[in-house]
Amino acid sequence: MSNKTSKQPTKRLRGMYDTLPSETWIWQRVESIAQQVFQSYYFQEIRFPLLEETALFHSAIGEATDVVDKEMFSFQSRSGKKISLRPEGTAGCVRAIIQNDLCNRGSQQKLWYQGPMFRYERPQKGRNRQFTQLGAEIFNVPSAQADAELILMTARLWKKIGLPNIRLEINSLGTLETRKEYREVLIKYFKQHLDVLDEDALKRLESNPLRILDSKNPKMSPIIETAPVLSDYLDEESQLHFDELKNILDVCGVDYRLNPKLVRGLDYYSKTVFEWITDDLGAQGTICGGGRYDALVELQGGKPTPAVGFAMGIDRIVELIKDLDLWQENSSIDACLIVDKEINISIINQLSEKIRNTLPSLNLWVNQNPASFKAQFKKADKLSAQFAIIIGSDELSNNRFTLKSLQDKDFGQKQGSFKQLIEWLQHFK
Ligand code: HAM
Repeated sequence: MSNKTSKQPTKRLRGMYDTLPSETWIWQRVESIAQQVFQSYYFQEIRFPLLEETALFHSAIGEATDVVDKEMFSFQSRSGKKISLRPEGTAGCVRAIIQNDLCNRGSQQKLWYQGPMFRYERPQKGRNRQFTQLGAEIFNVPSAQADAELILMTARLWKKIGLPNIRLEINSLGTLETRKEYREVLIKYFKQHLDVLDEDALKRLESNPLRILDSKNPKMSPIIETAPVLSDYLDEESQLHFDELKNILDVCGVDYRLNPKLVRGLDYYSKTVFEWITDDLGAQGTICGGGRYDALVELQGGKPTPAVGFAMGIDRIVELIKDLDLWQENSSIDACLIVDKEINISIINQLSEKIRNTLPSLNLWVNQNPASFKAQFKKADKLSAQFAIIIGSDELSNNRFTLKSLQDKDFGQKQGSFKQLIEWLQHFK
């Protein structure tokens, strides 16, 4: 018996997942549809770091939010600086536009971004510690037209992906001053019901009472139901802005539900907030959320710049596509090169490169371990390849190539020169 102890394989961290080839095609297709849609509205891509100074997220998202209070992956850099993995994209995007002076002289900016975000949450279906967001932000458009454009753009995206039963909920949080006033009203109201508030709500009572409205605790639902609503305290400007948004959505035929309790989990919002929600994913049904944050750029040291944006969770959208079995994978292999195992491997590379040079759009799979013709055909079948390009030693010395269709019986099998082989394949492409 060997006394060698074998090493236990290292496992992935909790709440972080590998995306395997059996699934990456869904991610790629969602991302590519989204990019086409964003481009059709002339949004431009911006990329910014995964790591930022922790202070950025504290001041942008808010100290009393769950994201900052409980969920950040934070640590010290080698130089002793406090840094964090980004829990969302808006803070970094705002830092980037200020630092790169993208919003000077009041010019409009329409930007999109994509990438991993990190939140130390309790993992469950649709809630991961590393997840991918696709987001878009509009800077320097104060009117509700920008809020509406973002909503219309996402509605178009759901249609292109084919997502059924997604509902839009909207609300207005008013200006920061309105919210301050409403906050006091809420604190006073909840203080009359201290015996019903759970531990979480008691903690939030002074720091973030609006978030109590988000609680799913059934014991608290009667008092949440009868709590004062923010819409009764809205300032005139926010009310007009909200009316304008609703009017555009009505005219454009976008259905929405008014949800006066929709407050969102990040402190930077003012005026419009919205979420796209599905009931098909269980508890984590929000696939996209966003809103206006007119004060944030100035708060972060930039010039006063009205702004609005959203981010969607790609993990949840992929989950939904899989759960509802919405898409079928298309075979992407056009041809397999099937070669006699006696042929020198350098010749196989030379030949496959020659085919690729002539037909750059062809997907060509080349077997790289010597195998029998039978095994190679089996592999080609498994890959659902359209064609097999068969090369035996004799054929190679005579410069003849056999092309066999693996899907179309009428085509059958043909033999010819390299030029003919390319013509047949070209016809197919
Ligand atoms: P958020 O609502 O925190 O907003 O996140 C946006 C979306 O990211 C959610 O609707 C959800 O689909 C997805 N998401 C969030 N957390 C997780 C998680 N742990 N696992 C999987 N998916 C998740 C924001 O992040 C704002 N920055 C959106 C925004 C942009 N507002 C204005 N501009």
